[in-house]
Amino acid sequence: MKAVETISWDDDEVSVTLIDQTRLPEHFRLVRCRSVDRLISAIRRLEVRGAPALGVAGAYGVVLASRKIREKEHSRFMRALWVEAGRITGARPTAVNLSTGVDFVMRAVEEAHSVPAARADALHAAREFASADARACHELGSHGTSLIRGRTTVLTHCNAGALACSEWGTALGVVRSAVESGAEVQVIACETRPLLQGARLTAWELQRDGIPVTVIPDSSAAFLMRRGEIDMVIVGADRVTPDAVFNKIGTYMHAVSARYHEIPFFVAAPLSTFDPGRSTDNVTIEERDRNEVASCGGAVTVPDGVDVRNYAFDLTPHDLVTAFITDVGVMKPPVDWKQIEAARRARGM
Ligand code: MRU
Repeated sequence: MKAVETISWDDDEVSVTLIDQTRLPEHFRLVRCRSVDRLISAIRRLEVRGAPALGVAGAYGVVLASRKIREKEHSRFMRALWVEAGRITGARPTAVNLSTGVDFVMRAVEEAHSVPAARADALHAAREFASADARACHELGSHGTSLIRGRTTVLTHCNAGALACSEWGTALGVVRSAVESGAEVQVIACETRPLLQGARLTAWELQRDGIPVTVIPDSSAAFLMRRGEIDMVIVGADRVTPDAVFNKIGTYMHAVSARYHEIPFFVAAPLSTFDPGRSTDNVTIEERDRNEVASCGGAVTVPDGVDVRNYAFDLTPHDLVTAFITDVGVMKPPVDWKQIEAARRARGM
């Protein structure tokens, strides 16, 4: 099974190349970001999205900035690079991976003593970060395989697949690894209002790999659980703090329904998504434009003048999580944060 490559660095064109996820499933188009401004706009518009992919975008974003800054004097170059790094990190607030990717490359660059060395080190570090993400997804996938036996129907939300990572995926990485090891898995993909990452992206990439997938409106999930049609829920995460899991809006509702129906609820997330240093009080939940909810296919769906709340993410408390599927193993809550911090340090995070 060869998964799609979501994002890459093109050294000849000096650009970050990414699949434009706003055009799928109708059109498969690559976008070349030749400036930091264009990359930031791609992140805000969700041309590239999903926590691990945002980390890789952030890492390559620093490479792009390092090539575009004209300063020849090293300390002035570094000051300008820090400004660009801050702008990239600020493009979207909730997924921790964006800053993890930027910081990983900036740490490598800080060791360099000249502008050419800084540019070379940035590219080296960003490539290392992208391969580490791919490796983590495969590791996480094989750990998760132990949870799937025989015929299994997995409900997932949003897109936590290859498109959300550098390849393979987190929640869908578990599905892919299980299928490769011979399990019969079918996926119920919640459409994921309002931007339909489940209907458009999860369905697209699973169909491409020949994995059976059915799309349902988000509001059908509890009904299918009650009918006994769901064996487990697997979702990804944008950030895991010691007190909550931040993921696409609607995740919490699936966790509550799964608990009520005694269905296991798994969160598949690499170590790069764990954030030991923050809590729900100091993470910003992104609120997006009213029009994403108030219009559909060009038609107005909410009367003018009526307020809309369009939170992009919600919080699920750890006690609703059956287990975290990570690149270092499956962990039942309460999470051992000392173990997480040690493993993150060992991987240079
Ligand atoms: O707004 P998005 O599409 O970036 O949100 C993505 C999600 O919520 C995913 O579930 C999450 O990033 C996990 S991706 C492996």
